[in-house]
Amino acid sequence: MKVLALSSSPRKDGNSRLLAQAVLDGATSMGHKVELIDLADVVKAPLGDCRTCRLADGRCSIDDGYEELLHTVLAADALVLATPLYWYGVSGQLKIFLDRIFCHAGAEYPRHEEVERGILHKRLAVVVTSEESYPGASLGVTAHMQELARYLRHDLVGIVRGTANSRGEITRDPAKPVEQAHNLGTLLFELPVTDYRMDTVRDGVVWQGGAPFIAGKAR
Ligand SMILES: Cc1cc2nc3c(=O)[nH]c(=O)nc-3n(C[C@H](O)[C@H](O)[C@H](O)COP(=O)(O)O)c2cc1C
Repeated sequence: MKVLALSSSPRKDGNSRLLAQAVLDGATSMGHKVELIDLADVVKAPLGDCRTCRLADGRCSIDDGYEELLHTVLAADALVLATPLYWYGVSGQLKIFLDRIFCHAGAEYPRHEEVERGILHKRLAVVVTSEESYPGASLGVTAHMQELARYLRHDLVGIVRGTANSRGEITRDPAKPVEQAHNLGTLLFELPVTDYRMDTVRDGVVWQGGAPFIAGKAR
C-alpha cells in the first residue's frame, strides 16, 4: 500500500514532523511504500477567488506545485496528516492544502473527475503536537479531522497527540507519542474503524479469539 505523509509545520526539525516520520517508519516495517512531503515546500499561496483566477484551461493559476502534490495524494492508499497545534486548530499550511482541493474538485478543472474519485476512501492517520497538554486544547483538530474523514469517506484510524514545544522535544514526552505513532503506522491497514448505530448488525466482540473483558466479571 502507498502511505503519504503531509507534514504541515514550517519547522522541518520539529515535533509533528517527527511523529509523521514515526508513522511512516511503522508503515515501512509492514512493507508499505511511504513518502513524506513538507507542505511548506510546495504550498505557497492560499486559495483565491476561483472565478477570477483560474487559467483559461480551467487549471489553478497559482503556480507552486500544488497540482502535482494533489495528484500524489490521490494515488495514496493512506494519508498521514501532521500538524502543530496553532491557535487551537491546524496549521495554516494544512488548512490551505485542504482549501485548495476545492479549486481542483470544481467542474472547470479539467481533471476534476479524477480528483472527486481519487480523494475518497483512504485510511487517515493524524498526528498533532502542542505545547499545552490539556485534552481540550486539541479538540478543535479532532472535530475537524472527524468531519473531514466523514465527508471524504476516509477511515480515521487514529489521532496521536504529543506534548512538546522546542524542536525535537517530543522524544522526551513520557507518554511516548513517538512510539504511539510508530505503532499506528504498523496498524494503519489493520485497525477496525467503526461507527455504530443502535441497529448496526454486529458480533458483540471486536477482537476475535476470546471472550470480551468486563471489569470485575468473567463472561
Ligand atoms: C503560531 C503558533 C501558534 C501556536 N498555538 C498553540 C496553541 O494554541 N496551543 C498550544 O498548546 N501550542 C501552540 N503552539 C505551540 C506549538 O503547537 C508547539 O510548539 C508544537 O510542538 C510545534 O510543532 P512543530 O515542532 O511540529 O512545529 C503554537 C505555536 C505557534 C508557532
